[in-house]
Amino acid sequence: RVLTVLVLATLVLAGCQGDPSLNVLDPSGTAGQKQLDLIKWSFFLMCGVFAVVITIFIYVLIRFRKRKGKDVMPEQTHGSVTLEIIWTVVPIILLAVLAVPTVTYTFDLAEVPQEDDAIKVKVIGHQYWWEFQYEGLNIKTAQELHIPVGKKVHLEIHGEDVLHAFWVPALGGKIDVIPGRVNTMWLDAQKPGVYQGKCAELCGAGHALMDFKVFADDQAKFDKWVAQMQKPAVAQTASQKEGEKIFMQNCLGCHAGTNPRIQGPDLSKFGNRETIAGILKHDDQNLRKWLKNPQSVKPGALMPKIDYLEPKEMDALVDYLMSRK
Ligand code: CUA
Repeated sequence: RVLTVLVLATLVLAGCQGDPSLNVLDPSGTAGQKQLDLIKWSFFLMCGVFAVVITIFIYVLIRFRKRKGKDVMPEQTHGSVTLEIIWTVVPIILLAVLAVPTVTYTFDLAEVPQEDDAIKVKVIGHQYWWEFQYEGLNIKTAQELHIPVGKKVHLEIHGEDVLHAFWVPALGGKIDVIPGRVNTMWLDAQKPGVYQGKCAELCGAGHALMDFKVFADDQAKFDKWVAQMQKPAVAQTASQKEGEKIFMQNCLGCHAGTNPRIQGPDLSKFGNRETIAGILKHDDQNLRKWLKNPQSVKPGALMPKIDYLEPKEMDALVDYLMSRK
């Protein structure tokens, strides 16, 4: 039995290891650090309350236990104004102690950064992907948010269809995505790296796979990315031009933002991505897998099957998409 408990405990603790970019307890951003401060604050306060309650409980158990030879009903007490005042006032003080920093942090994180060079990004949650539009930079991406290290990034969170929640565990967040409402927050990354992002609100069949990544790079690398994203991609080879034609006929309806009812991600710079659908490695083979059967990759995705193309047409389409850098 001891062995079973040990094995179970090991398994549970092994789950805590996981991906360091998903660790709330080791934040790499200011917002995450503030949130960790709140977690610690409320946790230690709770520990204090727990210790006091358990101490009184154990004291009462021992002090007023049934003793040998004393078989009479103990004296009964009814009502105590002092006690009632204590157990009303103490929790009020404790709640206030918790509420003040919580409310302060909440307003602080919703503030628009005043720095002139603060980056502003409109985040839109869709079933089951994330869209990022950079204000003033004319950049639209999906599943991948690039930010410079050490700079505040202001996020305007919009919802397109159902409730989602934006969350980058190591940087901060978990802010609701609500259709018809705009929520705001800011993030920064203090260390370069790739941080895993998650949808944190059950939103349908593809919820568990509604992932994205935050790439925090130094300013020079970020500027290079911006320049690359702003450069128009032009089909060069015959195969890419053929692929462009196939794309226009089959994909543009949803992927150009012209159809307000069905919106797929903007693919004009698809070749720069590091993932496909936010979860697969960005390579030809995975792109084919995604195109031929999106449901096998991300159940519930609105992307239709593109399984009717001739092999040569599929080659051209893949070639074209991958060339869009
Ligand atoms: Cu979107 Cu869960």
